Amino acid sequence: MPLRPYIVGNWKMHGTRATLSEARAIDRAAQRHMKVEVAIAPPYTLIHPVHREAEQIAVGAQDCHDQESGAHTGEISAAMVADAGAKFVILGHSERREAQSENDALIRAKAQAALAAGLRVIMCCGEAEKVRDAGRAVAHVKKQLKASLPETIEDAAEKLTVAYEPIWAIGTGKTATPEDIAEMHGEIRKLLIALFGEEDGAEIRILYGGSVKPENAGEILNVPEVGGALVGGASLTADSFMGIALAAGEAEEG
Ligand code: PGA
Repeated sequence: MPLRPYIVGNWKMHGTRATLSEARAIDRAAQRHMKVEVAIAPPYTLIHPVHREAEQIAVGAQDCHDQESGAHTGEISAAMVADAGAKFVILGHSERREAQSENDALIRAKAQAALAAGLRVIMCCGEAEKVRDAGRAVAHVKKQLKASLPETIEDAAEKLTVAYEPIWAIGTGKTATPEDIAEMHGEIRKLLIALFGEEDGAEIRILYGGSVKPENAGEILNVPEVGGALVGGASLTADSFMGIALAAGEAEEG
């Protein structure tokens, strides 16, 4: 049974308690779109408030530390976000790879910590514009993904989601062409099968991310091997975010 399309909102550093009304509206709308799995990753401070109120959507974190606890001022562990109600964590986002200098080895350690704490992992990957222009996008993404993912994941189809996000498409209004998305997702699929076996590797959802909005979601979500979307800017209001979920539901019906 293929998993439902997965539409995940990455709120980044946006949202205060005043924004909870949007989370509530997203949750209510998600109850009417059961063919689609909807989730949001708000800032840490809103994980528990959203978890407490949400009936349908899952809430997740945008990062976690690789250690269980200790003298790490300002950091938050996987067990802590799980305790607050998070069911998943986004790891390896290009904004963290760049601004926090996170490398593949650290991201892999974080993924292991998250899985050990019972969280699902959304592992991000993607290439910079100059890498794509040089014709090295596929090779770059496969190498990055292979080095960032734990070597073994029990129940990988359920526990792992991959998000392909070309860096040059994030927050820029640019999106990759359906052909380029199909090529990349096809290559990621082959890698996942090689890493996690035919059964799990074929089922793991591969999301596309980077300037996804209601207007382009239908076309993107219809591309083969696109199992959903990781959405930044357009996930901040229920209207635009659920417009994307609606498109996912329609793409699913084919
Ligand atoms: P965007 O962000 O939808 O605002 O481009 C996507 C992301 O960074 O996950």
